[in-house]
Amino acid sequence: MRATERQQIPQADPRAGYLAHAAEIDAALAGVLQRGRYTLGPEVAAFEVEFARWLGAAHAVGVANGTEALHLALRACGIGPGDAVVTVSHTAVATVAAIELAGAVPVLAEIDAPSFTLDCNRLEDALRRAAPRNLKAIVPVHLYGHACDMPAVLEIARRRGLLVIEDCAQSHGASLAGRMTGTWGDAAAFSFYPTKNLGAIGDAGAVTTGDAAIAARVRALREYGWRERRESEFAGTNARLDEMQAAILRVKLRHLDTANARRRAIAGQYTRLLAPCGLALPAAAPGAAHVYHQYVVRTPRRDALRDFLDARGIATMIHYPMPVHLQSAYRARAPLLEELVLTEAMASEVLSLPMYPELTDGQVERVAEALATAAR
Ligand SMILES: Cc1ncc(COP(=O)(O)O)c(C=O)c1O
Repeated sequence: MRATERQQIPQADPRAGYLAHAAEIDAALAGVLQRGRYTLGPEVAAFEVEFARWLGAAHAVGVANGTEALHLALRACGIGPGDAVVTVSHTAVATVAAIELAGAVPVLAEIDAPSFTLDCNRLEDALRRAAPRNLKAIVPVHLYGHACDMPAVLEIARRRGLLVIEDCAQSHGASLAGRMTGTWGDAAAFSFYPTKNLGAIGDAGAVTTGDAAIAARVRALREYGWRERRESEFAGTNARLDEMQAAILRVKLRHLDTANARRRAIAGQYTRLLAPCGLALPAAAPGAAHVYHQYVVRTPRRDALRDFLDARGIATMIHYPMPVHLQSAYRARAPLLEELVLTEAMASEVLSLPMYPELTDGQVERVAEALATAAR
């Protein structure tokens, strides 16, 4: 390896997450291979129990990915054609795609500045002015590892008789007032995409819920709507979780609290070192435990800064370069609850710095030094 290659700092590094636990993961995979049961077997069942226990939820149901988790959670909650569902436009396109997969219409709302999540005050005002007919649910997205203001979301939902389905794809372990994201709503959807805080080595996801009937419906929906094998009670799909991914997730779940603590330590180091750099830095709201899926800074000089870091071997990402409502698949189609001024501004200002548990203190210092140089 050339010296310059050694010096690259990736923005995320799922391979490092494998190597950190390679012996345990290899042993778990060898067990699956030998057993000969490759989908929805004992590893999936054990992972569901362990993940639900870790989260403090009554039920977890493993599925193929986070998009299917959200899609099936919505359907299991009774959301379907003709229904409207409020969510944000500053999110992964998957959030909006999943609502459409369920047959519902996504209605997009504004975020607030410090948290990058649903602005509940604005939502309340906008709904008071003109609530969409057939509004059935809210999908709050706990973006970047920070919980949405769930007491406010639940209060709006309670007053209007709406369901709440949390998008927890980026918030494994994030909590608010000591209560985990994924345990506030009627149901919640998790992604275990490789770069997530709890990441598989391929695609995987889960639905969590406190409601046994919703869990049972997701279990049926993930396999063709079967109640009894080969008899579909209703129209489902194939969104099974495979045994290899479940075995890997069981290993990684044992290390998740340590990994999240390391992400918090890295975030603390960034925040200390970057204080003089003139960037808007992320922070947790009072009572929120942030798990820093991403450490996202804001600056109007974002693109120049990104190039500057890139030239020094430091990779960054933009989550997200274009709000969903401006993307060609959704433009002029996904209705907006109001003008999304802040959402649109974010797209040109946010920058995700390198963030993964195996990042060393020295690498964090190198990123901070480069940002300090750029600020001079
Ligand atoms: C906020 C959010 N929602 C949903 C998803 C969808 O998850 P997946 O990629 O596992 O389908 C992701 C992941 O990309 C995400 O970040």
